Parts: sequence; structure tokens; C-alpha cells
Amino acid sequence: MNDIDTRDLLLKNLNGALKSKKLYPPGHPAVAAPAKKSFELVSNALKTSANVMFGIMNGAFVFEGDAIPDGEKLYPDLMSHLTEKNIDAVIFEKGVTEKELINVVDILSGTAAVKGEEIKKELDAKGVTHITLKSMPIGKKNALEVYNGALETVKNTMSEVRLGKIPKSGPVKEVISELTDAVFTDQNAMLGLTMIKNYDNYLFNHSVNVSVLAISLGRALGLEKEELDAVGVGGLLHDIGKTGVAENIIRKPGGLSSEEWDKIKEHPQLGSNITKRMEGLHEIVGHVVYEHHIRYDHSGYPQTTEKLHPLSQIITICDAYDALTTVRVYQQPHNPVEAIKVMVNFSGRHFSPDILKAFVNMLGLYPVGTMVRLSTNAIGVVIRLNPENGERPVVKLIYGPDGASLHDSPEVDLSANADKHIVSTVNPVVTNTDIGAFFEKESAAAA
Ligand SMILES: [Fe+2]
Repeated sequence: MNDIDTRDLLLKNLNGALKSKKLYPPGHPAVAAPAKKSFELVSNALKTSANVMFGIMNGAFVFEGDAIPDGEKLYPDLMSHLTEKNIDAVIFEKGVTEKELINVVDILSGTAAVKGEEIKKELDAKGVTHITLKSMPIGKKNALEVYNGALETVKNTMSEVRLGKIPKSGPVKEVISELTDAVFTDQNAMLGLTMIKNYDNYLFNHSVNVSVLAISLGRALGLEKEELDAVGVGGLLHDIGKTGVAENIIRKPGGLSSEEWDKIKEHPQLGSNITKRMEGLHEIVGHVVYEHHIRYDHSGYPQTTEKLHPLSQIITICDAYDALTTVRVYQQPHNPVEAIKVMVNFSGRHFSPDILKAFVNMLGLYPVGTMVRLSTNAIGVVIRLNPENGERPVVKLIYGPDGASLHDSPEVDLSANADKHIVSTVNPVVTNTDIGAFFEKESAAAA
């Protein structure tokens, strides 16, 4: 199907069929006519090619490998249904029937959050064998793309809430599955990216960081997939209730009045109300969002005497760690080693000793992102852990022994260099280094 007009006609008709599905009953000509037209166009194209394929690649509409500019504007319903269902390709094969095409329009316009294997099951159940709906393959994006995608999703989700809508859970679930894949593929890179602490966008970066940390901790604790997903979603949405608190209070640089503080304290309840209304989220999400400021000893807020959900402490701990390692109006950022020390002091009071222990073990003696001075006097950033040798991680040097910036940034695996060792941690503020930007560059270079 090389003719641009024919492609456009096909996509317009499919878009039209999906759009009409929202407005008209099944079988109505407004749905049946564009579906029939689409079928004719596809069958025609299949006379000369084995299949016809279109989809979404890196957020852009693609037909047979060619990007279609403005696809989102031209075929908004088609694009939004595909995105919602996490489908990145639709493939028609020879032998396709009109009934199959109509069934696919039904599946795409359905409200159930189906994806992956579930989509296959639905196609099977409806007897669709000549149309494939492919969901996003794993490992397609690099760590930074996944991180930025999560940032975008949390931003969109929160703005939907601000507009008074109940946000869609499909994009959130998809992002959590990508973050989880990325953590399992390269946990060091993902933990490095949690050092991105955008001051102006604090809430969004903080949400993604907590999610990445929570997935990593959940992984260390050996959680089952269902719980791990819920913890990831809980991390991403833990502060979603802040959308219900006036922005001038959230961003207020100085001390808060007691009324303002009372408003802030409402955000866990507001947040859990929102997540409970989002379709298809696990009930754990509501619990952990509600409890993320309740400490292990039940101090904090909201006040409760009830037993806490066993996974809530995962969010509480990751939230505290990301806050401690972030610059705040009232606080210089702690480096990861200092942040851990601060937190260990609250073990058994603010934090569950067992979960905190797992967290500290997961991060290691010198967590990824710690700036360190070596015995050679060179300064670098920990980029990878050597799990069997916590004192000797892999360090990427950024300043030489004389303090001059190194442009080639050599990596030193301390486990293989017995003559060098870490002598101290260094506060990045002192050397004017943005550790988050450093990891962004690392990740972009690895792509
Ligand atoms: Fe919070």
C-alpha cells in the first residue's frame, strides 16, 4: 500500500469507525460503513503484499515503516485507542474478513484494559486470526527513554486530575511495566537516573524516582509480579493527591502556617481516593498511597491505629530517601551515603527495620550516584556496584588528581584495581557537579 491517498483513506475510515463506536449502537451504518470501506482497502492492498502494517513508534504514527507527520491530529481516535491499549502495531494478513476487522474495531474501542497476552486471548475468542495486535516489545527503549516516558506519563496523569478527570490507568500500567523491565535489565542505570532531581519539576521527577526505587526494592524483597506492579504504581502515584492541594502551598518556599500544613496533610487521603477510582488498579495501590506518610511507629499522618499494609513501608522508605537526596529550600541534598545514615538512625521508629535493611543492602555501601574521592585524589561517581565487594564499586572519574576536569572520564573498576580505593565521599555541591545530568549523559551515550 504505497499510495499515500489510499493509506490516508484507510486510516481515516478506521478512525471514523472507532469514533462512531462511541456515539452509535453496534451495527449502525456510521460504524459499519467506514469499517466496510477499510476492509475493501485492506483486501485490495493484500492482493499485492503479504501484509499491511501500521502502528506507533516512539510516539509517532507509522505506516509500513514510514512516519506519518501529524498522525495524532489526523487520526486522533485511532491513535488514542492504540495508545490506551498499549498496542504499537496492527498487522493485517491475507485472508482477513470483514467480520474480523469489525471485531478488531470492537476490541480497540472496548473499555477493558487489555494488553499483551490478554489481547491475544480476546482476538482468539472473537475468531480473529488474520489481524495481529502487537503490544510494545520489551527492551525497545533505553533507560533514559523509559525514565522520560514515565515522567511524561506522571505529568499527564496529574494534569488530568487537575482538570477534574479520573486519569486513565492504561498509560500508568504500561509505564510501570517498562520501568520494571528496565530495572531488571539494568538496575544500575535506572538507579543512576533517580539522581535527576529537577527543582522546578520536583513532583514529577520525585514520583518517577520513588517508583524506580520502589520497584528495585520490591525486586530485592522478591515480590510477586502483581505486588511489584502495585508497588511501582504506588510509587509513581503516591503524591497524586498533591494535585488537590493549592500549588502555592505545595511550592511555598518558607514555613507553612498550621492551616497550610493541614491542607498538605490531606494529600494521602485525596491520593488514595483518586487511585481507587482509576479503573483496574490493584487495591494495594490505594493502601500504600494512603499510608505513605504513616511511619512504622504510627507517627506521621493521617493518624491511624490500624495495622499498616506490609508494602506501605516500601513507598515510605523510597520517598524519604529521594527527598533526602534532593535539594530543598531548607536543606542541602545529602549524598546517598549520608542519606542512608540519616535513615538508619530512624530504623524501628520511622522505618521498618527489615525493609530498611533490604533497602540499604540493595543500594550498597556506596550507592550508584555517590561522588567519591579515591586514594589517587581523583574524584568520580559510582556507576555500578560489585555486589560481592561493596567497598569496591565501579567509579567513573570526572576530576583528575590535580582537580582538573577529565574529558574522557575513564571508568575504574575498584574490584580489579587493588592499588586504588575510596577514601571518602564528596558533596557534589562542592565540585559543582549535577549528578542527575551526569547520568542523563551516560544513558544517552549508551543508547
Ligand atoms: Fe507525600
